[in-house]
Amino acid sequence: METRLPHDLNIDKTGWHRARERAVSSLRAYVLNNLAGDLRADYETAVEPTLDEPPADGVAVHKAMRPRPAFRLYSSLRCTAQELVWSTVIDSINQQADVLEEQAEALTTKSGVAGTLELDESTELPDYYRAVDVHLMPGNYDGAAAEAGVLPGAVYDNGFNVFAFGAMGKEHNDIGWSMANFVKLRFPDIEPATIVDVGCTIGHNTLPWKQTFPDADVYGVDIAGACLRYAHARATSLGVEAHFRQASSDRLPFDDASVDVVFSSMFLHELPAKHIGRFISEAHRVLRPGGVLINMELPPNAALPPFDAFYLDWDSYYNNEPFYKAFRDQDYRSLCTDAGFESENFFEGVMPRYTYVDADDFEKAVLSPAEFDEDTGRLSDAIQWYGFGARR
Ligand SMILES: C[S@@+](CC[C@H](N)C(=O)[O-])C[C@H]1O[C@@H](n2cnc3c(N)ncnc32)[C@H](O)[C@@H]1O
Repeated sequence: METRLPHDLNIDKTGWHRARERAVSSLRAYVLNNLAGDLRADYETAVEPTLDEPPADGVAVHKAMRPRPAFRLYSSLRCTAQELVWSTVIDSINQQADVLEEQAEALTTKSGVAGTLELDESTELPDYYRAVDVHLMPGNYDGAAAEAGVLPGAVYDNGFNVFAFGAMGKEHNDIGWSMANFVKLRFPDIEPATIVDVGCTIGHNTLPWKQTFPDADVYGVDIAGACLRYAHARATSLGVEAHFRQASSDRLPFDDASVDVVFSSMFLHELPAKHIGRFISEAHRVLRPGGVLINMELPPNAALPPFDAFYLDWDSYYNNEPFYKAFRDQDYRSLCTDAGFESENFFEGVMPRYTYVDADDFEKAVLSPAEFDEDTGRLSDAIQWYGFGARR
């Protein structure tokens, strides 16, 4: 595992911190690949055959699995690894916070930078946002706090590097590449002029949209000003033009019918239901006729066998993701039609990771109907992405 990030917002980590990052990353890979396999085997060989009737859903599988040693080992190690992800990187970031701020300042004030940053510190944080440290990340995304500088972005970027154990792209951007190329292949008539990534955090999945559609203006929107400061400096360092705007997904800062693609990634499952509805209605408002809303997400529970539904819902119970299961219990087509999209314009897709596979294999998957399997949405070395949305 490479502990240096592939851009200039880097800190010199001690040998101890680098070793610790590698150890935590390996632990996560072991839990999510190997122990996850043991968990499934335990269910299939020792639990399922003893059930009086087939489990109705993931909740029934959860109930049956909770006393099992395999489940307890998996869950305790996964929780421990998650906490270690953050504590390890926060420790080294705190030791060099000044260096990081200076690097960000130098990048932000660099001349000739085409990308922009517009912060709106009057942006109000909804209650749900302050209520929990989502996925056990201390301080959450730190919202609008100006005094936070770029540190929350650095925590997310360095933490994500450990968290992803190399499974999400060299610049943690495979989702962006995959979804942008999904749109390009599935909707070849689209020539986007304006693309908006909502809930963009540090813009890692925003930049591939500019790289895939170089003629488009690409925007990253988030409620967390601290992450956007980092996103802007990061994009500058990588030499990719993108425009970052602080705003809530409840009120996107774009005119009616002015956007060609609205994208989100791992965003909806962090919102309460009413905010999901507002965001999709906003997407409908800002999209031009023919424009595309595409959300990379976890697959819906209804599409999966009970064990897979249980497995993906683990985060809702044990990883401070309070809205995760409620979101996955929804009918995604209805989320779109309730917001004004036509039912026949709904689409979904399952695809391999764009930057890991041959172009032909990727294209074949994009042009085929969505087929769910145990790797769909499950972070592992064999992960397949899921996306859904609708055309305006
Ligand atoms: C899981 S992160 C998204 C990750 C990122 N899109 C990716 O591809 O990895 C969720 C993001 O949504 C942002 N967020 C939460 N509620 C929001 C809202 N109402 N409006 C805009 N951004 C919001 C958070 O600040 C955070 O950056």
